[in-house]
Amino acid sequence: MNKLSLEELISRVDEIPVFSQTVNRIIQITEDPKSTAKDLESEIMKDQGLTTKILRLANSSYYGVSRNIKSVSEATVLLGFQAIKSMVFASTVGKVMERELPGYALEREGLWRQSQMCAITARTLAKKIKFPKPDQVYTAGLLRDIGKVILDTYMKEQFELIVQEVELHNKTFLEVEAEVLGYNHSEVGARIADKWNLPQDLIEAIACHHNPEQATINPKMTAMIHIADGLMMMMGYNIGIDGLNYKFSDDTMTLLSIDESVLTEIMSEVADLIGDEGIFF
Ligand SMILES: [Fe+2]
Repeated sequence: MNKLSLEELISRVDEIPVFSQTVNRIIQITEDPKSTAKDLESEIMKDQGLTTKILRLANSSYYGVSRNIKSVSEATVLLGFQAIKSMVFASTVGKVMERELPGYALEREGLWRQSQMCAITARTLAKKIKFPKPDQVYTAGLLRDIGKVILDTYMKEQFELIVQEVELHNKTFLEVEAEVLGYNHSEVGARIADKWNLPQDLIEAIACHHNPEQATINPKMTAMIHIADGLMMMMGYNIGIDGLNYKFSDDTMTLLSIDESVLTEIMSEVADLIGDEGIFF
């Protein structure tokens, strides 16, 4: 079996064409405080598919804008650069995640749907607790399991072994990944996010989404991703075979000063959003 070390794996990831030049440029523009809505629009317009997706998302009830948004620059002014960036991530990363991941028992597009759901749930939670960067939380929710995509691409044979172990011994993928590979999908995802120059708190949220107590940079953001991930299971969207082996950390609820009634509200809001919007999928 061709087992790669974490370093070898990360160095190979350049071979995966994740972000096009246009997308990289869009990310740069959204991070530059001198950029204008026009700069962003002219770059996005180079990609017709992306333009369409952004306009559909901007007009969805998810963003809660009552007027009809007709241009990308209008969407940018109304929703802000961070929202546009999260939409760009949402539409781009989706292409990578749409592939089948047999090792994780996820059906085609399953991981992508689940990641979208987690992102929407995390953002809903962020807004509920008035967290200042809901769109960054959305991106973190979207990317939390990107490490699974990377592992699946390079470690197919090991996955079969991992799946067997998970099924036989009632363990989590996280535990078995560490035993078989010496590292897990959270570590892989965090390293990739670092390679993409994503913000440190976002990298941490990916790294610690199963171990939120280890977060030090922005524990609240990590806590939200952990909770959103857990809610996926409660809502039945986590279709990995190890779903029930994960434990949900109550400390994260204390950290965010929320109780179970807030979780119930979030689940019902998310169900409504998903109900009206086939748009996310
Ligand atoms: Fe995960």
